[in-house]
Amino acid sequence: MSALAQIEAARLARLLNGIQKTVDWRSRAAIADTLAGLTRSMVPAGGPIAPEIAEKAERLKRDGLYRLGRLLTPEQVAEIHAYLKTRPCYTGHVPAQGDGIARTVEECAGLANCGSYQRADVLAAPHLLELANRPELLGIAEAYLGCAPTIYSINLFWSFPDRSEKYPVTQLYHRDFDDFRFCTLFIFMTDIRGSDGAHYYMRNTHRPDYVEQAYNERLRDKSMFPLDRLFLVAAYDDRDCQNLFASDVETVTGPAGNGVIEDTYGLHKGDVPKTPRLLGWVRYGLYNNVTAYGDNPTGPQPRALGAGRIPPGPRHAFMNRLLIEP
Ligand SMILES: [Fe+2]
Repeated sequence: MSALAQIEAARLARLLNGIQKTVDWRSRAAIADTLAGLTRSMVPAGGPIAPEIAEKAERLKRDGLYRLGRLLTPEQVAEIHAYLKTRPCYTGHVPAQGDGIARTVEECAGLANCGSYQRADVLAAPHLLELANRPELLGIAEAYLGCAPTIYSINLFWSFPDRSEKYPVTQLYHRDFDDFRFCTLFIFMTDIRGSDGAHYYMRNTHRPDYVEQAYNERLRDKSMFPLDRLFLVAAYDDRDCQNLFASDVETVTGPAGNGVIEDTYGLHKGDVPKTPRLLGWVRYGLYNNVTAYGDNPTGPQPRALGAGRIPPGPRHAFMNRLLIEP
Protein backbone atom coordinates (compact mmCIF):
# COMPACT_ATOMS: atom_id res chain seq x y z
CA MET A 1 0.00 0.00 0.00
CA SER A 2 1.36 3.45 -0.85
CA ALA A 3 2.10 5.95 1.91
CA LEU A 4 -0.89 8.10 0.90
CA ALA A 5 -3.21 5.11 0.81
CA GLN A 6 -1.99 4.15 4.30
CA ILE A 7 -2.77 7.65 5.58
CA GLU A 8 -6.23 7.47 4.04
CA ALA A 9 -6.90 4.02 5.54
CA ALA A 10 -5.71 5.18 8.98
CA ARG A 11 -7.94 8.30 8.80
CA LEU A 12 -10.98 6.24 7.91
CA ALA A 13 -10.25 3.67 10.62
CA ARG A 14 -10.06 6.41 13.25
CA LEU A 15 -13.24 7.98 11.89
CA LEU A 16 -15.01 4.64 12.31
CA ASN A 17 -13.55 4.31 15.82
CA GLY A 18 -14.93 7.74 16.68
CA ILE A 19 -18.37 6.89 15.31
CA GLN A 20 -18.35 3.65 17.29
CA LYS A 21 -17.69 5.50 20.54
CA THR A 22 -20.51 7.98 20.10
CA VAL A 23 -23.17 6.08 18.18
CA ASP A 24 -26.47 5.36 19.90
CA TRP A 25 -26.92 1.74 21.04
CA ARG A 26 -29.92 1.41 18.73
CA SER A 27 -27.68 1.85 15.67
CA ARG A 28 -24.92 -0.65 16.46
CA ALA A 29 -26.57 -3.66 14.77
CA ALA A 30 -27.31 -1.83 11.51
CA ILE A 31 -23.72 -0.58 11.21
CA ALA A 32 -22.41 -4.05 12.08
CA ASP A 33 -24.59 -5.59 9.35
CA THR A 34 -23.23 -3.08 6.82
CA LEU A 35 -19.61 -3.80 7.78
CA ALA A 36 -20.22 -7.55 7.66
CA GLY A 37 -21.80 -7.26 4.22
CA LEU A 38 -18.81 -5.31 2.92
CA THR A 39 -16.46 -7.98 4.25
CA ARG A 40 -18.51 -10.77 2.65
CA SER A 41 -18.29 -8.98 -0.69
CA MET A 42 -14.51 -8.49 -0.54
CA VAL A 43 -13.01 -11.44 1.35
CA PRO A 44 -12.94 -14.95 -0.12
CA ALA A 45 -15.75 -17.04 1.32
CA GLY A 46 -15.04 -20.10 3.43
CA GLY A 47 -16.98 -23.29 3.10
CA PRO A 48 -20.50 -23.64 4.44
CA ILE A 49 -20.72 -23.48 8.21
CA ALA A 50 -21.39 -26.94 9.69
CA PRO A 51 -24.74 -27.32 11.51
CA GLU A 52 -23.10 -28.08 14.88
CA ILE A 53 -21.03 -24.88 14.63
CA ALA A 54 -24.06 -22.84 13.56
CA GLU A 55 -25.93 -24.22 16.59
CA LYS A 56 -23.17 -23.00 18.94
CA ALA A 57 -23.25 -19.57 17.30
CA GLU A 58 -27.03 -19.48 17.76
CA ARG A 59 -26.59 -20.17 21.48
CA LEU A 60 -24.04 -17.36 21.59
CA LYS A 61 -26.51 -15.05 19.84
CA ARG A 62 -29.32 -15.99 22.20
CA ASP A 63 -27.54 -16.09 25.57
CA GLY A 64 -24.42 -14.00 24.97
CA LEU A 65 -22.12 -16.85 25.97
CA TYR A 66 -21.36 -20.45 25.05
CA ARG A 67 -19.20 -22.77 27.15
CA LEU A 68 -16.73 -24.55 24.88
CA GLY A 69 -15.32 -27.06 27.39
CA ARG A 70 -11.73 -28.18 27.08
CA LEU A 71 -9.68 -26.39 24.40
CA LEU A 72 -6.11 -27.08 25.57
CA THR A 73 -4.67 -30.17 27.24
CA PRO A 74 -2.92 -29.91 30.63
CA GLU A 75 0.37 -30.46 28.79
CA GLN A 76 -0.31 -27.55 26.42
CA VAL A 77 -1.23 -25.29 29.34
CA ALA A 78 1.99 -26.31 31.12
CA GLU A 79 4.00 -25.46 27.99
CA ILE A 80 2.44 -21.98 27.89
CA HIS A 81 3.30 -21.42 31.57
CA ALA A 82 6.87 -22.63 31.03
CA TYR A 83 7.26 -20.25 28.07
CA LEU A 84 5.86 -17.28 30.02
CA LYS A 85 8.47 -17.81 32.75
CA THR A 86 11.02 -16.70 30.15
CA ARG A 87 9.18 -13.50 29.24
CA PRO A 88 8.86 -10.16 31.09
CA CYS A 89 5.55 -9.25 32.71
CA TYR A 90 4.00 -5.75 32.84
CA THR A 91 1.46 -4.23 35.21
CA GLY A 92 -2.08 -3.80 33.83
CA HIS A 93 -4.40 -6.27 32.12
CA VAL A 94 -2.69 -5.14 28.91
CA PRO A 95 0.78 -3.55 29.05
CA ALA A 96 -0.60 -0.26 27.71
CA GLN A 97 -2.68 0.09 30.92
CA GLY A 98 0.38 -0.22 33.19
CA ASP A 99 3.63 1.67 33.69
CA GLY A 100 5.43 -0.14 30.89
CA ILE A 101 8.28 -1.41 33.06
CA ALA A 102 9.38 -5.02 32.51
CA ARG A 103 9.23 -7.07 35.72
CA THR A 104 8.75 -10.62 36.97
CA VAL A 105 5.21 -11.87 37.64
CA GLU A 106 5.97 -11.78 41.38
CA GLU A 107 7.09 -8.16 41.19
CA CYS A 108 3.93 -7.21 39.30
CA ALA A 109 1.83 -9.08 41.89
CA GLY A 110 3.33 -6.90 44.60
CA LEU A 111 2.44 -3.71 42.76
CA ALA A 112 -0.78 -4.15 40.85
CA ASN A 113 -4.06 -6.05 40.42
CA CYS A 114 -3.05 -7.39 37.01
CA GLY A 115 0.00 -8.36 34.99
CA SER A 116 0.29 -8.97 31.25
CA TYR A 117 2.67 -9.62 28.37
CA GLN A 118 3.69 -7.80 25.22
CA ARG A 119 1.65 -8.85 22.23
CA ALA A 120 4.73 -10.15 20.38
CA ASP A 121 5.41 -12.47 23.33
CA VAL A 122 1.79 -13.63 23.45
CA LEU A 123 1.89 -14.42 19.74
CA ALA A 124 5.15 -16.30 20.15
CA ALA A 125 3.67 -18.43 22.96
CA PRO A 126 2.95 -22.02 21.97
CA HIS A 127 -0.59 -23.08 20.98
CA LEU A 128 -2.42 -19.73 21.26
CA LEU A 129 -2.24 -18.51 17.67
CA GLU A 130 -3.17 -22.01 16.50
CA LEU A 131 -6.10 -22.02 18.93
CA ALA A 132 -7.30 -18.65 17.63
CA ASN A 133 -7.35 -20.14 14.12
CA ARG A 134 -9.13 -23.40 14.90
CA PRO A 135 -11.87 -23.97 12.34
CA GLU A 136 -14.50 -24.46 15.06
CA LEU A 137 -13.73 -21.12 16.69
CA LEU A 138 -13.40 -19.18 13.44
CA GLY A 139 -16.67 -20.81 12.32
CA ILE A 140 -18.54 -19.74 15.47
CA ALA A 141 -17.12 -16.22 15.15
CA GLU A 142 -18.00 -16.04 11.44
CA ALA A 143 -21.57 -17.24 12.02
CA TYR A 144 -21.93 -14.78 14.88
CA LEU A 145 -20.48 -11.77 13.08
CA GLY A 146 -21.94 -12.48 9.65
CA CYS A 147 -18.58 -12.44 7.86
CA ALA A 148 -14.98 -13.64 8.09
CA PRO A 149 -13.79 -12.41 11.50
CA THR A 150 -10.93 -10.03 12.11
CA ILE A 151 -8.80 -11.26 15.02
CA TYR A 152 -8.00 -7.88 16.54
CA SER A 153 -6.65 -8.78 19.97
CA ILE A 154 -4.89 -11.67 21.68
CA ASN A 155 -3.77 -11.47 25.27
CA LEU A 156 -2.63 -13.30 28.39
CA PHE A 157 -3.07 -11.61 31.75
CA TRP A 158 -2.72 -12.39 35.43
CA SER A 159 -5.19 -11.30 38.10
CA PHE A 160 -3.52 -11.20 41.49
CA PRO A 161 -5.05 -11.90 44.93
CA ASP A 162 -4.86 -9.84 48.09
CA ARG A 163 -5.56 -6.48 46.51
CA SER A 164 -7.38 -3.97 48.68
CA GLU A 165 -9.36 -2.49 45.79
CA LYS A 166 -11.00 -4.09 42.77
CA TYR A 167 -9.61 -3.33 39.33
CA PRO A 168 -12.60 -1.55 37.78
CA VAL A 169 -11.67 -2.26 34.16
CA THR A 170 -12.19 -6.01 34.61
CA GLN A 171 -13.42 -6.77 38.13
CA LEU A 172 -16.65 -4.72 38.21
CA TYR A 173 -19.58 -5.24 35.85
CA HIS A 174 -19.00 -3.47 32.57
CA ARG A 175 -19.57 -3.60 28.85
CA ASP A 176 -16.64 -3.90 26.43
CA PHE A 177 -16.95 -1.43 23.55
CA ASP A 178 -14.54 -3.09 21.16
CA ASP A 179 -16.54 -2.99 17.94
CA PHE A 180 -20.03 -2.66 16.51
CA ARG A 181 -20.26 -6.47 16.89
CA PHE A 182 -17.62 -8.78 18.32
CA CYS A 183 -17.06 -11.84 20.48
CA THR A 184 -14.36 -12.81 22.93
CA LEU A 185 -12.87 -16.23 23.55
CA PHE A 186 -11.62 -16.63 27.14
CA ILE A 187 -9.24 -19.51 27.87
CA PHE A 188 -8.51 -20.42 31.47
CA MET A 189 -4.80 -20.94 32.05
CA THR A 190 -5.31 -21.68 35.74
CA ASP A 191 -8.26 -23.43 37.42
CA ILE A 192 -11.18 -21.05 37.88
CA ARG A 193 -13.50 -21.90 40.81
CA GLY A 194 -16.66 -20.36 42.20
CA SER A 195 -14.75 -19.19 45.25
CA ASP A 196 -11.55 -18.32 43.40
CA GLY A 197 -11.56 -15.97 40.45
CA ALA A 198 -14.88 -16.97 38.85
CA HIS A 199 -16.08 -15.15 35.75
CA TYR A 200 -19.60 -13.70 35.76
CA TYR A 201 -21.81 -12.84 32.80
CA MET A 202 -25.30 -11.33 32.82
CA ARG A 203 -27.04 -13.55 30.31
CA ASN A 204 -28.77 -11.80 27.35
CA THR A 205 -27.54 -8.31 28.28
CA HIS A 206 -25.72 -8.11 24.92
CA ARG A 207 -29.20 -7.92 23.29
CA PRO A 208 -30.88 -4.51 23.29
CA ASP A 209 -34.30 -6.17 22.88
CA TYR A 210 -33.80 -8.18 26.08
CA VAL A 211 -32.45 -5.22 28.04
CA GLU A 212 -35.39 -3.07 26.96
CA GLN A 213 -37.89 -5.80 27.85
CA ALA A 214 -36.32 -6.34 31.29
CA TYR A 215 -36.33 -2.58 31.87
CA ASN A 216 -40.02 -2.33 31.00
CA GLU A 217 -41.15 -5.42 32.92
CA ARG A 218 -38.94 -5.30 36.02
CA LEU A 219 -38.57 -1.63 36.85
CA ARG A 220 -41.58 0.00 38.52
CA ASP A 221 -40.30 3.56 38.84
CA LYS A 222 -38.54 4.53 35.65
CA SER A 223 -38.47 8.25 36.32
CA MET A 224 -34.97 8.28 37.86
CA PHE A 225 -33.51 5.59 35.64
CA PRO A 226 -33.40 6.21 31.90
CA LEU A 227 -33.11 3.14 29.68
CA ASP A 228 -29.91 4.55 28.13
CA ARG A 229 -28.11 4.08 31.44
CA LEU A 230 -28.18 0.31 30.89
CA PHE A 231 -26.09 0.72 27.75
CA LEU A 232 -23.23 2.75 29.21
CA VAL A 233 -19.71 1.31 29.12
CA ALA A 234 -19.50 0.81 32.84
CA ALA A 235 -22.14 -0.33 35.25
CA TYR A 236 -19.28 -0.25 37.76
CA ASP A 237 -21.10 0.95 40.83
CA ASP A 238 -24.53 0.96 39.31
CA ARG A 239 -26.49 -1.08 41.89
CA ASP A 240 -29.78 -0.52 40.06
CA CYS A 241 -28.37 -2.08 36.93
CA GLN A 242 -26.96 -5.06 38.83
CA ASN A 243 -30.23 -5.60 40.70
CA LEU A 244 -32.22 -5.48 37.47
CA PHE A 245 -30.27 -8.39 35.99
CA ALA A 246 -29.53 -10.31 39.20
CA SER A 247 -31.57 -13.31 37.98
CA ASP A 248 -29.56 -13.46 34.75
CA VAL A 249 -26.11 -13.95 36.24
CA GLU A 250 -24.15 -16.92 34.89
CA THR A 251 -21.09 -18.06 36.86
CA VAL A 252 -18.39 -19.47 34.59
CA THR A 253 -15.80 -21.77 36.14
CA GLY A 254 -13.65 -24.64 34.96
CA PRO A 255 -10.23 -26.26 34.95
CA ALA A 256 -7.21 -24.79 33.18
CA GLY A 257 -7.53 -25.44 29.45
CA ASN A 258 -11.30 -24.80 29.34
CA GLY A 259 -12.81 -21.91 27.44
CA VAL A 260 -15.96 -19.87 26.92
CA ILE A 261 -16.92 -17.59 24.03
CA GLU A 262 -18.92 -14.47 24.87
CA ASP A 263 -20.24 -11.28 23.42
CA THR A 264 -18.59 -9.09 26.04
CA TYR A 265 -20.72 -6.12 25.05
CA GLY A 266 -22.98 -7.94 27.54
CA LEU A 267 -22.34 -7.09 31.19
CA HIS A 268 -19.53 -9.16 32.69
CA LYS A 269 -16.73 -9.18 35.26
CA GLY A 270 -14.04 -11.39 36.74
CA ASP A 271 -13.91 -12.01 40.48
CA VAL A 272 -10.84 -11.08 42.50
CA PRO A 273 -9.05 -14.43 42.83
CA LYS A 274 -7.67 -16.05 45.96
CA THR A 275 -4.70 -17.43 44.01
CA PRO A 276 -2.98 -15.90 40.95
CA ARG A 277 -5.26 -16.39 37.95
CA LEU A 278 -4.00 -16.45 34.37
CA LEU A 279 -6.53 -15.88 31.61
CA GLY A 280 -6.10 -15.78 27.85
CA TRP A 281 -8.36 -14.01 25.38
CA VAL A 282 -8.79 -13.94 21.62
CA ARG A 283 -11.13 -11.29 20.23
CA TYR A 284 -13.00 -11.52 16.93
CA GLY A 285 -14.57 -8.45 15.34
CA LEU A 286 -15.44 -6.60 12.16
CA TYR A 287 -12.62 -4.13 11.61
CA ASN A 288 -9.47 -2.56 13.04
CA ASN A 289 -10.55 -0.62 16.08
CA VAL A 290 -7.16 0.96 16.68
CA THR A 291 -8.29 2.42 19.98
CA ALA A 292 -9.41 -0.86 21.58
CA TYR A 293 -6.93 -1.80 24.35
CA GLY A 294 -4.05 0.17 22.87
CA ASP A 295 -2.24 -3.14 23.00
CA ASN A 296 -0.94 -3.08 19.46
CA PRO A 297 1.28 -0.01 19.19
CA THR A 298 3.77 -1.82 17.00
CA GLY A 299 1.32 -3.17 14.44
CA PRO A 300 1.33 -6.72 13.13
CA GLN A 301 4.30 -8.98 13.83
CA PRO A 302 6.60 -10.33 11.10
CA ARG A 303 5.14 -13.03 8.91
CA ALA A 304 7.73 -15.56 10.11
CA LEU A 305 6.01 -15.68 13.49
CA GLY A 306 2.91 -17.17 11.89
CA ALA A 307 4.71 -19.49 9.48
CA GLY A 308 3.23 -22.98 9.67
CA ARG A 309 0.83 -21.86 12.40
CA ILE A 310 -1.84 -20.15 10.29
CA PRO A 311 -3.44 -21.96 7.33
CA PRO A 312 -2.24 -20.50 4.00
CA GLY A 313 -4.35 -18.38 1.67
CA PRO A 314 -5.87 -14.91 1.46
CA ARG A 315 -8.78 -15.64 3.76
CA HIS A 316 -6.60 -16.51 6.77
CA ALA A 317 -4.19 -13.70 5.88
CA PHE A 318 -7.16 -11.33 6.15
CA MET A 319 -8.43 -12.73 9.44
CA ASN A 320 -4.96 -12.52 11.03
CA ARG A 321 -3.80 -9.28 9.34
CA LEU A 322 -3.77 -7.22 12.56
CA LEU A 323 -1.64 -9.83 14.36
CA ILE A 324 0.70 -11.08 11.62
CA GLU A 325 1.85 -9.27 8.48
CA PRO A 326 -0.10 -10.63 5.50
FE1 LIG B 1 -14.37 -6.74 29.77
